[in-house]
Amino acid sequence: MNPPRLTVDAVSVAFSGLRALDEVSFTVEPGTVHAVIGPNGAGKSSLLNALCGIYPVTGGRILLDEHEVTRQRPDRVAALGVGRTFQNIVVSPRESVLDNLMVGRHRLTRAGLVRTALWLGRGEERRHEARVREIAGFVGLSERLDKTAGRLAYGDLKRLEFARALCLEPRLLILDEPVAGLNTAESRELGRLVLAARDALGLTVVFVEHDMGVVMSIADRITVLDFGRVVAEGAPAEVRRNPTVISAYLGAPGEDAQEGAPR
Ligand SMILES: Nc1ncnc2c1ncn2[C@@H]1O[C@H](COP(=O)(O)OP(=O)(O)OP(=O)(O)O)[C@@H](O)[C@H]1O
Ligand SMILES: [Mg+2]
Repeated sequence: MNPPRLTVDAVSVAFSGLRALDEVSFTVEPGTVHAVIGPNGAGKSSLLNALCGIYPVTGGRILLDEHEVTRQRPDRVAALGVGRTFQNIVVSPRESVLDNLMVGRHRLTRAGLVRTALWLGRGEERRHEARVREIAGFVGLSERLDKTAGRLAYGDLKRLEFARALCLEPRLLILDEPVAGLNTAESRELGRLVLAARDALGLTVVFVEHDMGVVMSIADRITVLDFGRVVAEGAPAEVRRNPTVISAYLGAPGEDAQEGAPR
């Protein structure tokens, strides 16, 4: 299946008077990796939540190719092929890695995961499990499938989340801080996996990340948010040189900014 184009057209989100997003627009071309960066509270997670139908959009339009997904329910958006991870890890700690991934075959909803029983025939369940094992192998979790998720090392948990989003067989993959809390080697590895997944599965990817090393190395384009507005957009090299971005986010010119500067 061809990766979709994502069009975000003047999208606004407000919470009782607070404008979390103010007419945000950008386009993610099919098969590209698009980063959204900005200081803490800039509206990055709100944007991802709006894209998934979790936060109500108060203005503007969101399109997946020609299909308008604005104001659709999260399960409907998921059914159109939008898979995601959350900023805070959402796994079932008492269940095995395999079971967590099997749940990933079901759709995500407003409340988190739908914990539906798998009313599948044997053959169908086996097919799902075979695919889940394949995805676990792809992210390097084959050896951990029987382990209880709550006992995983942090790096493996982040990979589990990533793998679970892939288990939904998304066409658009949305990642909220996929490498937060990982060391440099783990971050690079997950960054490499995002690109590998994009290539192998034919995905369009949107991700939020504070780790500028990963952003600059895997993003095709970057949108910069500050106070809910787009303050810059461009290829990594352009964004890195943009004076507004440097003062709002990256730190003084010449500084080796690896982390976002929290306000
Ligand atoms: N569910 C909510 N209800 C009320 N206000 C919210 C809600 N979600 C986000 N906000 C507010 O919207 C603004 C943007 O928050 P958001 O979480 O999108 O920022 P962010 O860019 O993801 O920050 P961070 O880098 O810290 O994750 C903040 O002022 C936040 O307090
Ligand atoms: Mg956030």
